[in-house]
Amino acid sequence: MKKRVAVIGAGPSGLAQLRAFQSARAKGEEIPEVVCFEKQGDWGGLWNYTWRTGLDEYGEPVHCSMYRYLWTNGPKEGLEFADYSFEEHFGKQIASYPPRAVMVDYIEGRVKKAGVRPWIRFRHPVRFVKYNEAKGNFTLMAHDLVEDRMYEEEFDNVIVASGHFSTPNVPEYPGFGIFGGRVLHAHDFRDAMEFHDKDILLLGSSYSAEDIGSQCWKYGAKSVTVAYRNAPMGFDWPDNFHEVPALDHVDETTAYFKDGTSKKVDAIIMCTGYKHHFPFLPDDLRLKTANRLAAADLYKGVVWVNNTKLFYLGMQDQWFTFNMFDAQAWWVRDAIMGKIAVPTDKAVMLADVKDREAREDAGQDAHDAIHYQGDYVKELIAETDYPKFDVDGACEAFFEWKDHKKAGIMEFRNHAYKSVITGTMAPVHHTPWKDALEDSMESYLKN
Ligand SMILES: Cc1cc2nc3c(=O)[nH]c(=O)nc-3n(C[C@H](O)[C@H](O)[C@H](O)COP(=O)(O)OP(=O)(O)OC[C@H]3O[C@@H](n4cnc5c(N)ncnc54)[C@H](O)[C@@H]3O)c2cc1C
Ligand SMILES: NC(=O)c1ccc[n+]([C@@H]2O[C@H](COP(=O)([O-])OP(=O)(O)OC[C@H]3O[C@@H](n4cnc5c(N)ncnc54)[C@H](OP(=O)(O)O)[C@@H]3O)[C@@H](O)[C@H]2O)c1
Repeated sequence: MKKRVAVIGAGPSGLAQLRAFQSARAKGEEIPEVVCFEKQGDWGGLWNYTWRTGLDEYGEPVHCSMYRYLWTNGPKEGLEFADYSFEEHFGKQIASYPPRAVMVDYIEGRVKKAGVRPWIRFRHPVRFVKYNEAKGNFTLMAHDLVEDRMYEEEFDNVIVASGHFSTPNVPEYPGFGIFGGRVLHAHDFRDAMEFHDKDILLLGSSYSAEDIGSQCWKYGAKSVTVAYRNAPMGFDWPDNFHEVPALDHVDETTAYFKDGTSKKVDAIIMCTGYKHHFPFLPDDLRLKTANRLAAADLYKGVVWVNNTKLFYLGMQDQWFTFNMFDAQAWWVRDAIMGKIAVPTDKAVMLADVKDREAREDAGQDAHDAIHYQGDYVKELIAETDYPKFDVDGACEAFFEWKDHKKAGIMEFRNHAYKSVITGTMAPVHHTPWKDALEDSMESYLKN
């Protein structure tokens, strides 16, 4: 009997897994039966934009944390698929910070070409997975939302690719209950135009705060105030954009900060991060980790140390994204197909996890973190037939990106970088990012 493999999620990680298996089949190898369960109506994961927030039309939590006018926050040259370049997809080289719609088109291009859509059951959230000790396999319960029918199937392996930037971390501050304006989390932020001419307060000092603040500024917010808990982002912000120490409390109209200053604001956007959340997994299978580069309890960053038939993709914090998911997916495929041996001794796997944590902890700064994750990508692809590419070159693109942000936080997206897959230089975009209010794919590709 053929092995049966379940993949949970058809975002970039789950799709990488489907492409990995399909590429082995294309080389004549016999692959397991692969079934992908996706709760949304289409593929692309977070990149599959919806205007909806809260619950969707079936009462499911809306997965999307992306928003209109989102452009990639790092250069595309750091994430390009090694087996499907931007040039192959668009027929020409394109500028380096594509808007969301352009990215969706690229993500879809590779899997359409691979023909794996029939492997996916859309509108099928996974409700529960349990391990059957006696049979040595898993029972997976899914919910067919369209037919409103729950059913169970058995699988030899389960691969969790359900993402970890969708369930918001939502703190409460004194006074939120009486504040007169809107209070929301970044997960529910959709359209910067809502905050045109408004004084807004953002909590947090990481990527969401930086990008949502910049975007609201771009689309005409009157002022942007960002309250940091530990350290400011420290960029050279425009005049109406300020960083202040942590929020203490609010009243009906005004936010009061730890340094004794205050600011009247119209809305508060919590850019306070996300939680790893797997409501469909029991204790013995459920990953519990901080958002870090060396995720807890995953041998090689992908194998669940307590049950080596269960795998997780993309659970690390991310400098590298699509190409790292690929590296993981190709490795997991080979582990499942018996081409890579997974240790049978749990102590060996835990030592691997410990070593990864220690190496991450020894890093001093973002440079070290980028190298660390780049080395991880290299380690995995060295063990499979994923096309080798210049990972150090991708790290260089990230280093340049960091420098460009320091030089001009509202200008960094105007820069261009060299593809490490095709060796060609990206064109400089026709319009500076801050002036490119219309960001459809058609407009972006006019270079
Ligand atoms: C606001 C924001 C902006 C970002 N911008 C960038 C960027 O510019 N560049 C970049 O490289 N990365 C960016 N990222 C990082 C992002 O994590 C990755 O690009 C990528 O989307 C991760 O892919 P994934 O497949 O691991 O997870 P996701 O994209 O989250 O996909 C997970 C999939 O699993 C499905 N799913 C979840 N639970 C279930 C269930 N129980 N049953 C069935 N299906 C389920 C979901 O519906 C979803 O389709 C951004 C993240 C956020 C939050
Ligand atoms: N355009 C884009 O491409 C784009 C845009 C947005 C996000 N993203 C991606 O989305 C992912 C998530 O980024 P993120 O910024 O949402 O999460 P994050 O990187 O995990 O950062 C969370 C932030 O919230 C702060 N925080 C947590 N709890 C808090 C509390 N109780 N009070 C105040 N502050 C609190 C943290 O502060 P401390 O630092 O003090 O702990 C940190 O600054 C990243 O991968 C990022 O690249 C991409």
